[in-house]
Amino acid sequence: MKISECYYQKNAKEFFQDTIQVDMSSLRERFLTHVPLRGCILDAGCGSGRDAKAFIEASFQVTAFDAAPALAKLAQVYFGQVVDVLTFNQITYEKEFDAVWACASLLHVPNKSLPKVFLKLFRALKSGGVMYVSFKYGSGEVEHNGRRFTNMNEGDFSRLLEGIGVFKLMDTWVSNDRRPDRDDEKWFNALLISTGDVCRSA
Ligand SMILES: C[S@@+](CC[C@H](N)C(=O)[O-])C[C@H]1O[C@@H](n2cnc3c(N)ncnc32)[C@H](O)[C@@H]1O
Repeated sequence: MKISECYYQKNAKEFFQDTIQVDMSSLRERFLTHVPLRGCILDAGCGSGRDAKAFIEASFQVTAFDAAPALAKLAQVYFGQVVDVLTFNQITYEKEFDAVWACASLLHVPNKSLPKVFLKLFRALKSGGVMYVSFKYGSGEVEHNGRRFTNMNEGDFSRLLEGIGVFKLMDTWVSNDRRPDRDDEKWFNALLISTGDVCRSA
């Protein structure tokens, strides 16, 4: 298990309690305007299951996975569905989802591995599917409190997408951290639409 995955395994209970109540409704709403009613959403790196639960309550169909078994177990109990214990590198979904929700999870993927992981998520999407991603706002890779983060800004993200070639950028925006004690932290958010052909990503 890699360093950040270990962090969530060791600190699952605490992380669950710290993030379950965070109000992410405005971000979810912005994403859901692009998802067909009752559509299938993949919650990639679902953490506590907070967003998976909200999507289910809004009548969407959800598949969720997370790399940390202890967190996946807590999420499973919380929203009442199986959570697959998988890393981004292990997923093999093929054209199954109308949308991917990757909230604050791809930020633990090293920069050099992001193209491969984006292509895996692209393959999970149906043609024309949408994807939401968020990273801490900034640039480069940093290690902080036992986790590795790949930070992101508009320029780095455009270059990343250009190299991948199968997503079109719909929107990016910067938001504040929703947790009460994290006012000074900024997040980079992006909504993408898949435009390429699965064959191109083989
Ligand atoms: C900052 S948390 C975000 C959790 C949740 N999406 C949220 O918004 O609260 C990062 C999550 O990504 C998961 N994660 C880290 N590395 C991963 C990997 N390689 N594959 C899948 N999930 C991973 C962690 O276990 C953790 O649940």
